[in-house]
Amino acid sequence: MTSEKRGGPWRVLIASSHSLFAEGLRGLLQKRPRGEVEVVGLAATIEEALDALGKHQPDLVIVDYDDEIFNRDEILARFVEGEGRLRVVLLSLGDGGDEAIVYDRRTMAAAQIEDWLEKWTDSQVSAQLPVIAISDEEEQSPFQKRSKHMKHYIFAALLVIVLTLASIVGLDQVRLLPEQASVQAEPIDILFDIEFKIIAFLFALIVGLMIYSIIVFRRRPGDDTDADHVEGNPRLEVLWTIAPLATVLYLSFLGAQVLGDTLRADPQPLEVRVVGSQWSWRFEYPLEGITSTELRLPVNKQALLQLSSTDVIHSFWVPEFRLKQDALPGGEDMIRELRITPKNTGEYTVRCAELCGTQHATMIAPVLVQTQEDFQAWVDEQAGEVSDDPVERGQRWADQFGCLACHTTDGTQSVGPTWQGVFGSQEALADGTTVEVDEAYLRESILNPGAKIVAGHQNIMPANIAQDMTDEQIDDVIEFIKSLR
Ligand code: CUA
Repeated sequence: MTSEKRGGPWRVLIASSHSLFAEGLRGLLQKRPRGEVEVVGLAATIEEALDALGKHQPDLVIVDYDDEIFNRDEILARFVEGEGRLRVVLLSLGDGGDEAIVYDRRTMAAAQIEDWLEKWTDSQVSAQLPVIAISDEEEQSPFQKRSKHMKHYIFAALLVIVLTLASIVGLDQVRLLPEQASVQAEPIDILFDIEFKIIAFLFALIVGLMIYSIIVFRRRPGDDTDADHVEGNPRLEVLWTIAPLATVLYLSFLGAQVLGDTLRADPQPLEVRVVGSQWSWRFEYPLEGITSTELRLPVNKQALLQLSSTDVIHSFWVPEFRLKQDALPGGEDMIRELRITPKNTGEYTVRCAELCGTQHATMIAPVLVQTQEDFQAWVDEQAGEVSDDPVERGQRWADQFGCLACHTTDGTQSVGPTWQGVFGSQEALADGTTVEVDEAYLRESILNPGAKIVAGHQNIMPANIAQDMTDEQIDDVIEFIKSLR
């Protein structure tokens, strides 16, 4: 406000019928150095005051609050009607000590004298007359006002600190993260921990200040005044822009570091090819010559997972390992890698974390972390064990290649036609014709799933499902289907 004032001294009108008040105040004001204040008139009656308002255009009117001859309402009413910039001070030197009410025409808010004083003392503008005019006895020193504000700052800060600590303790009680089961999970959890603490502080800062303001600065009964007129605070705005920016930059730096940690490669990891299909997982161990529907990993050895998909985008996710990676269709070029070093033996579950169709929710597979010896025993057993029975082998291939995710063997209807009793039957096709289910039809349906669609089903079988199967494996699967009478 003060900075907007035109140049030159402050033009002050004093309104009081008591000459002691008027002359005394004028004497005080004229003692101000450098001609900052010009007392443009003394008004002893309301008529004189209104007349002087028009004639002298003062910046400030000081009204004797205790003067019965002066109608304060009348002065204020005139004051509100006017256009120019004007401030009115109702000054009381009565029993209550030096009290004053300040009215600013621009906002018409009955601001507290403390705030008003602070504005003038803070200001770089030299016009400090009101401070001199009424702080002759040093009743309201700036220091006192500051300490009153300080009290609010301290209480609000304490509330924020308490709420932050309570939130952190509360978050600790809730089990937010599952078991930490991989080496790669360690830096990730440290980052999570930092972020949880920042979130707890932000929560406390916002909610704490809100609660404090709602309770302490609530409107009291009978208070009809407007709130203080606040016009922004550049210092605060710069602060609340820079602080979050710095925080986010720091977090992104930490995030990059953690990403680097999780990608760190051990020499000679265990290679596993992970293939997602609607809606099953297949795990191939190329060096061991094993294909499996469960992911077995030796503990404390890094596994290099090479992820791909036969159809749509899936996402490999074991929450206990913390890592997640999409499995993309598109062949060798689209293989994505994930490095996991399990650090606890145990049973986990891999989930698909990418919405991939109707059975997405059931696209899960067991994960077994074993000791080196147990894992090796499993490898030896799997490698040695290929049954002589084509039906048994066919069942194994059907399981491993994900056929059984969609085709049941017990007559239940699922996404694909059930295999029970299908061999030798007459199937009604989507185009209205029928076909006899013989070996030729089964083979065609595996190699080219879209050729003849059974009525009531859609062609969602991966077209390239047979690509990874040998002819012998396909023969075995057909034998297996034939056995399901
Ligand atoms: Cu695969 Cu969801």
